[in-house]
Amino acid sequence: MSKSTFRTAIVRTPSGPESIEVIDVPVVEPGPGEVLVRIAAASVNPVDLGVAEGFFHGMGLINQPEHTGLGWDFAGTVAASGPGVELAVGTEVAGLVAGFDRDFSTYAEQIVVPATDVAVVPDGLDLVVAATVPLNGLTAAQILDLLGEPSPDDNRLLVTGAAGAVGGYLLPLAQDRGWRVTGLARAEDEEFVRGLGADFAEHAEPGWDAVADAAKLQERGLAFVRDGGTFVGVQPGAEPPAERGISVTAVAVHADGPRLGELLARAASGELPARVHATVPLDRVADAHRAVAKGGVRGRYVLTM
Ligand SMILES: NC(=O)c1ccc[n+]([C@@H]2O[C@H](COP(=O)([O-])OP(=O)(O)OC[C@H]3O[C@@H](n4cnc5c(N)ncnc54)[C@H](OP(=O)(O)O)[C@@H]3O)[C@@H](O)[C@H]2O)c1
Repeated sequence: MSKSTFRTAIVRTPSGPESIEVIDVPVVEPGPGEVLVRIAAASVNPVDLGVAEGFFHGMGLINQPEHTGLGWDFAGTVAASGPGVELAVGTEVAGLVAGFDRDFSTYAEQIVVPATDVAVVPDGLDLVVAATVPLNGLTAAQILDLLGEPSPDDNRLLVTGAAGAVGGYLLPLAQDRGWRVTGLARAEDEEFVRGLGADFAEHAEPGWDAVADAAKLQERGLAFVRDGGTFVGVQPGAEPPAERGISVTAVAVHADGPRLGELLARAASGELPARVHATVPLDRVADAHRAVAKGGVRGRYVLTM
């Protein structure tokens, strides 16, 4: 008989890594158009630290009666499909659960999601590596949509936080779109940034046609944009006030199975830098959060179930 519960990491009264608990919750069956995924790997992202610290609860964005789930990325195998879904049991998939106002999420042994939100993991791409792609790959791709199309005299893009997960995907994807890209990052990240074909800057001056602000510099990032240029941030609802005719928006990532499929293929071929710093079992999730909180980590901590 299959188990009627599974393990998942949640917070009840969020106050940092110590408040994370691993609990058992009832199994959910997939409905029409849904798949049940047995999760192998889920990465730890900055947003998860914010949830565990109570940052988003404090902003009134989370209203869970009992507990709040953690995790946005997952990779695993299809364990069951609901009516109308053609994914075979055993297929390796990855996906994104966007949004943090949930009772549990991808830090879990399993999850039910719309089949349109997952993509098949290409042969040869390890599930631990695949788990690092959905949130930040899709965020980079959707930042590009907000930046719009470059033109020959309007194509100088500065990516802040260029050595981070979002930044690392943006550098090659933006060049494909026709942007002339410079990555703003710390001195020790120069080789990584240049290795992705971008120019490198440790400090920037104003005058850029566009800024993609993955380092969350906000007003300081906006100051780098020329009059009438474009700024895309990563904090929707907390964009810096527009000034000097600059277009100011912020990405709010959403799931997109087909686009994720393209990103996974490019990660598998080595064109996109899907970086794993370390794997950590679900039971040691608090240790992973503590390590990420120290900063300076390149590549993701990935929880294994
Ligand atoms: N709105 C959305 O839909 C969405 C989706 C995904 C991500 N995000 C947000 O986007 C941001 C980036 O995510 P990520 O996963 O790429 O984070 P990450 O991997 O931690 O990367 C951030 C990078 O920025 C660098 N950085 C930070 N402050 C800097 C500064 N003042 N000068 C130079 N470099 C600086 C960091 O370097 P150090 O490590 O050395 O500090 C790091 O390399 C996060 O805030 C995340 O929450 C938003």
